Amino acid sequence: MCGIVGYIGKEKCLPKIISGLESLEYRGYDSAGVAYIIDEKIKINKEQGRISNLKDNINLDIGSYIGIGHTRWATHGKPCELNSHPHKVGKITIVHNGIIENYESLKKDLCEYEFISETDSEVVAALIDKLYNEEQDMLKVLPRLKEFLLGSYALGILVDNDDKIYAIRKDSPLIIGVSELGNFIASDVPAILQYTNLYYLILNNEFAVLNRDDVVIYDKDGKVSTKNLLTFEGSREAAMKNGYEHFMLKEIYEQPKVIMDTISEYITNVDILKEKMKGLENYEEIDIVGCGSAYHVGLVGKALIEKYGHIRVNVDIASEYRYTDHIYKKKHLILVISQSGETADTLAVLRKAKEDGIDTLAIVNVVGSSIAREADRVLYIKAGVEIAVATTKAYSCQLMMLSMIAMYLGLHYEMLDESIFDEYKKLDKLIDKILEDTSDTKIVAEMIYKNKDVFYLGRKLDYALGMEASLKLKEVSYLHSEAYAAGELKHGTISLIEEGTPVLSIITEDDIRFKTLSNVKEVCARGALSIIITNEEVQDKEVYDKLILVPKLHDLVGSVIVIIKCQLIAYYVAKLNKCDIDKPRNLAKSVTVE
Ligand code: AGP
Repeated sequence: MCGIVGYIGKEKCLPKIISGLESLEYRGYDSAGVAYIIDEKIKINKEQGRISNLKDNINLDIGSYIGIGHTRWATHGKPCELNSHPHKVGKITIVHNGIIENYESLKKDLCEYEFISETDSEVVAALIDKLYNEEQDMLKVLPRLKEFLLGSYALGILVDNDDKIYAIRKDSPLIIGVSELGNFIASDVPAILQYTNLYYLILNNEFAVLNRDDVVIYDKDGKVSTKNLLTFEGSREAAMKNGYEHFMLKEIYEQPKVIMDTISEYITNVDILKEKMKGLENYEEIDIVGCGSAYHVGLVGKALIEKYGHIRVNVDIASEYRYTDHIYKKKHLILVISQSGETADTLAVLRKAKEDGIDTLAIVNVVGSSIAREADRVLYIKAGVEIAVATTKAYSCQLMMLSMIAMYLGLHYEMLDESIFDEYKKLDKLIDKILEDTSDTKIVAEMIYKNKDVFYLGRKLDYALGMEASLKLKEVSYLHSEAYAAGELKHGTISLIEEGTPVLSIITEDDIRFKTLSNVKEVCARGALSIIITNEEVQDKEVYDKLILVPKLHDLVGSVIVIIKCQLIAYYVAKLNKCDIDKPRNLAKSVTVE
C-alpha cells in the first residue's frame, strides 16, 4: 500500500504535503514525489528512497498553493525514479494507491500513448487523459472510471490549466480533510492531523472536487452527496494503527485482504498461475532456505510440495546452509524466502547458489530488495509494509505462495482439478469470521501467561506450524517456548513436563490425529495444562483443559487459520505481560548482518 496526500488552500502546499507523506511513511517508503501548480504549470519532483531524500531536493517555500504527493510501496515495477509517482500523461497528473489488475489489457487499448514506466498507475493517467479529451469535463470522466478499471485505487488528480484537486476511490482508503487553512486529500488520518482532525470518509466510487474554500463530494453516479463531517479523537500514532493498539494486531487483522491480494491473480486466472510457476515441475529436488519465520514457513511448504508435487524438498536455516557443502541434483532449485529481502544469511545462500550455477527462486515481500533483484525468478507476496518486528501477515502470505506452488504441481500431476480454486476463494471470509471473535485465544492467553515454559506439540504439518507458533510466543512475550514433534517427546523432553506445564497441541491432519492425541494423553498424565488447537471435536474430554476448534479445510489452505489463532495467543500473552509488542527487546525487523 502507498500513501497519497494533497492540499489546496491559502498556505504554501509543499510543507503540508511533505509532512503528510512523512506521517504515511509506514505505508511505503521506496520512493516519493510531489506535483504542484506554480505559474499555472504543473511541476513534478520525485526521488527514489525515503521522503527525506525528496525533502532535501525540493524548495518547500516555493509559492504554490495546490499540490499532490505520494510515498510508494512498489507492487508493479521496481523502486526507481521512473516508477515513482506522480505520473503525468497528457494533461493529467495523478498519484495512485492501489493495484489495477487489468492494467496490461488496458495498456493495449491505449496504444496511442507511449508509456515510460512499468507501473499500472501510469496506465490510469493515460486512461483519464483519453476520457478527458472526449468529455472535457472531469465530472463526467470520474464516474466512468469504474467501467474500465478492475482492482483497487485511490487517486489524487491535477489537470493542466485547472486549479482544483480531484480525488476518487475504490477499495483503497481515501479521506478529505477540511480546515480554515484549506482542504486535504489523504490515504489516512495521520496525514492531516497536524492541521485538522475534521474529515470526510470517501466511500467506494465516490469522488470529490477540492477548491481553496470548499469541497464538493459526488456519489458514484456523479450526483452531489451530503456527507457527515467526522472528527478524529486520538494521536497520530494511534491513527497510524487504524485504531488498533499495536501494529502487530493491525497486521493480524490485515490478513484477509493481503492474502487475497497475494493469491487472487493465481486463483482467478489459471494462465497466470501456469505462466508464473512454469518449469517448477521439472525440478528433481528443491532446497527451501530462510531464517526464523521464513524457515518455519518453508517447513509447511515442504509438506505441501512433497504431497502434491512429487518433488523431494529439503528445508534449512540459511546460517547453516551457507557454510555447508551441498550435493545438488542435475535439476536442482534453491528457493529462498524472505519478507524484507535483505536478510544477510539468506542473501548469502542466494549468491552462493548462483556461483554454483544452481537455479534460484525467491519468495519476497519487499519489491526491489536485494534478494528480489538477485534471484533468477521472484514470486512477490503482497503483504504490504510489515512494521511489527514479529511477522504475521507476511508469514501467512508466504505460506499461501508455497501453497500456490504445491497447487500448481498438484494440477500438473492431476492430483487436483480447478475446483481447488474455490477452497482459496472463501479464505478471506473464513479468516474474517475467526477475527470477529478472538475470545478463545484470549482465554488461552489468560491460562498460560504466568508460566515460564510453554510447549507446542504436533506431527508433520502440525509440527511445522508449532515451530512458528512457538517462535511468535517467544518473540513478543519473552516466555520460554519450544515446539516438538509429538512422537519425539518420550525420547527426553517429556521430563520437562510437570504439574501445570502448558502444552499446546496442534492436530489438523487425519492420518496422525490419534497418534498425536495419544502423545497428549502422555503429557496430561504428567499434569500438563493441555490446550488443543484442532479442526475436529475431541471426544475424550480428559485430554484437554481448553479446546480451540478451527474450520476443517483442504490442507492447502487450512494451516493459515491455525497460525492466525497462534499469532493471537502470542499477542494476548504479550499484552498480559505488558511487553513492548511491536518492538520486542533484542530484535530487529530485518537482520542485515551475519
Ligand atoms: C519473525 O517474526 C522474525 N522477525 C524473524 O524470525 C524473521 O522471520 C527473520 O529474521 C527472517 O526475516 P526475513 O523474512 O525478512 O528474511
